[in-house]
Amino acid sequence: MSEQVKSSEVSLDFLGELRRTHSCGALRASDAGRRAVLMGWVYRRRDHGGVLFVNLRDREGVTQIVFKADGDPLVHAKADQLSSEYVIAVEGPVALRTKETINPALETGEVEVVAERLWILNTSRTPPFPMEETVDVKEDARLKYRYVDLRRPHMQRNIILRSKIAFAVREVLTGMGFLEIETPFMTRSTPEGARDYLVPSRVNPGTFYALPQSPQIFKQLLMISGFEKYFQIVRCFRDEDLRADRQPEFTQIDLEMSFPQQEQIYQTIEPLIVAVCKVAGYQVPSKFPRLTYAQAMRSYGIDKPDLRIPPFHCVEDLFQGQNLTLEGLPLVAIAIPKTGTVSRKERDDLKAFGSERGLRVYDDVKRLDRDFPEAMAEVRKRATATEEDLLLLAGWAGEPKGQRPDESVLMACGQLRLHAAQKYNDRHKLLDPKNFQFLWVVDFPMFEWDDEENRWNAAHHPFTSVHDEDIDKLTSDPAHCRAKSYDLVLNGTELGSGSIRIHRRDVQSKVFSALSFTEEEARKRFGFLLEALEYGAPPHGGIALGLDRLVMILAGETSIREVIPFPKTAKGTDLMCEAPAEVPERQLRELGISIRKS
Ligand code: AMO
Repeated sequence: MSEQVKSSEVSLDFLGELRRTHSCGALRASDAGRRAVLMGWVYRRRDHGGVLFVNLRDREGVTQIVFKADGDPLVHAKADQLSSEYVIAVEGPVALRTKETINPALETGEVEVVAERLWILNTSRTPPFPMEETVDVKEDARLKYRYVDLRRPHMQRNIILRSKIAFAVREVLTGMGFLEIETPFMTRSTPEGARDYLVPSRVNPGTFYALPQSPQIFKQLLMISGFEKYFQIVRCFRDEDLRADRQPEFTQIDLEMSFPQQEQIYQTIEPLIVAVCKVAGYQVPSKFPRLTYAQAMRSYGIDKPDLRIPPFHCVEDLFQGQNLTLEGLPLVAIAIPKTGTVSRKERDDLKAFGSERGLRVYDDVKRLDRDFPEAMAEVRKRATATEEDLLLLAGWAGEPKGQRPDESVLMACGQLRLHAAQKYNDRHKLLDPKNFQFLWVVDFPMFEWDDEENRWNAAHHPFTSVHDEDIDKLTSDPAHCRAKSYDLVLNGTELGSGSIRIHRRDVQSKVFSALSFTEEEARKRFGFLLEALEYGAPPHGGIALGLDRLVMILAGETSIREVIPFPKTAKGTDLMCEAPAEVPERQLRELGISIRKS
């Protein structure tokens, strides 16, 4: 240990020619007697009357290092200086632990390394929070010191899982004949329903690139270029309000195929998901159930049903003329299994939740049984409700709402169903995070009504094909026009979305006009795509899955921030590098930008 430099009071060693022989997760009982060189971070240290134990951690695991009381006094004195998160190397023989000291919680728990040599490679300031994963740390602190937070075992597990999943995706898709092709980040706006992040151009003052909300247009162009099967694990950028499952920059598994039947897209994604789940240690069925959007609405009141909770049932036919709901609108029976007795106050809460959403909730089942015995017997039959279940009827309280009024009622009932199921999860335990219920929701409406702008918006995006038999409805009845689109849903989360695209210039024009784009506006925004459609565009379609959401669920997390190494806060800021930030006046001048202070 001749080469040493001073750092505070601790002498630091050079790594020199030293090489690690094993990771901190590798050693087993069969290695006893071998010599090992381990390197990593001091996780925990305990002093047992002169015997010093250090748990040494690297990305593969933790190994116990022992500095014996009768060992080299110089090494022992040096080990005395060790503190949390110091970076060290140790060398010594691997020894079996005595039966009583075996640690079954560690994969290496049957052995320890008896340190005969110690190198201190770096010191560490006291970490800003404890490294143990069991300790709850405020997220702001975690994000400010993300490089430390990422060392904590659960973050290491999540990021490693993410990497393995990305690798499996590449392996499966490449095996199916997909080509990984990159598309630009500095481009024009892609309409995916959010605001764009803009990048000013210095050489073309007053003009801006938009960061892509998705590679949608480029992947379509790649089909027109004849690549036939494209994929990319790609960063997308969207300036929108953030939630636990949304980030301003996030990653998609994006793919596109030429000449596909919708069925072929499902047959691509299903084995991909099966392989990805296998990487995470889960086996899932190789085919996923399908519901049309209309069925999903009628049974779950949402376009991303959580199949772990049973569906609700429309029962207005059993109560005709009874005024339980507005004439012509659904009356819904919601049964949440195994909730047991629900108190008066709890039922009042559910009623209040429903009425805030425009529902009239009937919770007095005894009274309903008395007033409508036959109808209620049929309700119980449809809902397969038992005495142990919570049973509610919900109808509409006010005026019909929106362009598709039954949908407004069903959606409010869907929220009530979810709310009630989540509220009593500790009783029925339906929402097991390891019960993965994948599902395809297909045939979405083509358009959504925009109350503010008073016009139709594309429900998916404006390049989505309409059902062949609904083409005439594009102008006559846009509310009931169905799209050739599909979502992949997992446990109530939208994992992915895709569609068969429009490949004909005339049909694309019709859709733009249904969306109230003038020909001029359409040409200005998407002229290059419209033109490309005139140069032999093949029928094509694809899908994009949210990688962050997929990893989040498979890692058992409830926020995508837990599976993204350097995420943004809910306000879109990076607390570690303090972005976004002001820039020097000179830089603004170069870009021809002046900041308007309002
Ligand atoms: P869409 O906009 O539905 O479709 O996005 C596809 C999937 O990307 C994920 N996702 C997000 N994940 C995290 N943060 C966000 N802000 C965010 N926004 C979306 C979701 C979503 O299902 N071009 C089309 C796909 C296609 O038609 O092929 C598209 O981007 O999991």
